[in-house]
Amino acid sequence: MKVKVASGVQDIRAVWFEDGRLKLIDQRKLPLSLEIVETEDWRRAVEMIRDMTVRGAPAIGITAAYAMALAVRAGEEPKAAALCVKAARPTAYDLFYAVDRIVDAFAAGEDVLRAADAYAEEIVEKCLAIGRHGASLIADGMKVMTHCNAGALATGDWGTALAPMRVAHAEGRRFFVYVSETRPRLQGMQLTAWELLQEGIEHAIIPDSASASYMRDGVGLVITGADRIAANGDFANKIGTLDKAILARHFGIPFYVAAPISTFDPNAADGSAIPIECRAEEEMTCLGGQRLAPLGSRALNPAFDVTPGSLVTGFITESGIIPPGGQF
Ligand code: MRU
Repeated sequence: MKVKVASGVQDIRAVWFEDGRLKLIDQRKLPLSLEIVETEDWRRAVEMIRDMTVRGAPAIGITAAYAMALAVRAGEEPKAAALCVKAARPTAYDLFYAVDRIVDAFAAGEDVLRAADAYAEEIVEKCLAIGRHGASLIADGMKVMTHCNAGALATGDWGTALAPMRVAHAEGRRFFVYVSETRPRLQGMQLTAWELLQEGIEHAIIPDSASASYMRDGVGLVITGADRIAANGDFANKIGTLDKAILARHFGIPFYVAAPISTFDPNAADGSAIPIECRAEEEMTCLGGQRLAPLGSRALNPAFDVTPGSLVTGFITESGIIPPGGQF
């Protein structure tokens, strides 16, 4: 069991393989209940990516790697299974990167399950490295803002945007985190706040629409994750990230994006090449299963937006902090 949430820095693991089964924290249930779901069926693993039992680009990648390993072990033709796994969600590049890694491992005659384990461990190491590179950006007494959830739940153990906060906290610095709630699925309020609480990092949940006021009043740093980063530094992340980047530029606040190299899409020249997922209208019109919008009103629900690289101060990667459009 790898879910230890009482204290400590790397105790939350979102996805792991144990006793022949893929195990995941059901992120749709947090923070009200901590439930583990498990499967040995690769199609069910794909379904869990699609229905957001697991979400966040690197965690989607790890799940996809295991889904591929299960598919190959079940005798599926790897390229056909790869197409199916890749269709689970369109935006997070880690999904495509991870699937190709397992297809390549199979072609090289490697054990696919070992390859998936190695991929998961690699992401954990990369997240820790991101934390170490980014921690120096966080000064004692600083106010930091983040959006969505780019913590342990979304990645491998340490998080991407939350990794520098974890490391800075472990190094003894005190700082405060504004967690924007992240409408409509509330990943900030339900997941990031839950993780920061486990870590004992001071924070408050704010409405997405309060970002401007708090930035004006003294935010020193904004850090988000990314779902896909284009070669010129444009990147897709949870809807509302673009607003924060524009505001940060307006108020002269450094805006950093934390992501492993597996999130960089070398085939996307710029943000226009990034596919943006549009999700069900009901995520907008209903709350807690009850419709609150007028019957007959339509809703638009893009899950991500694209922020121009020109608004990014730097990308915090496992290889160090690189400028937008820099070599990765
Ligand atoms: O729709 P989600 O919850 O999968 O979106 C997640 C995000 O947008 C995260 O910020 C992103 O994947 C980075 S996770 C390290």
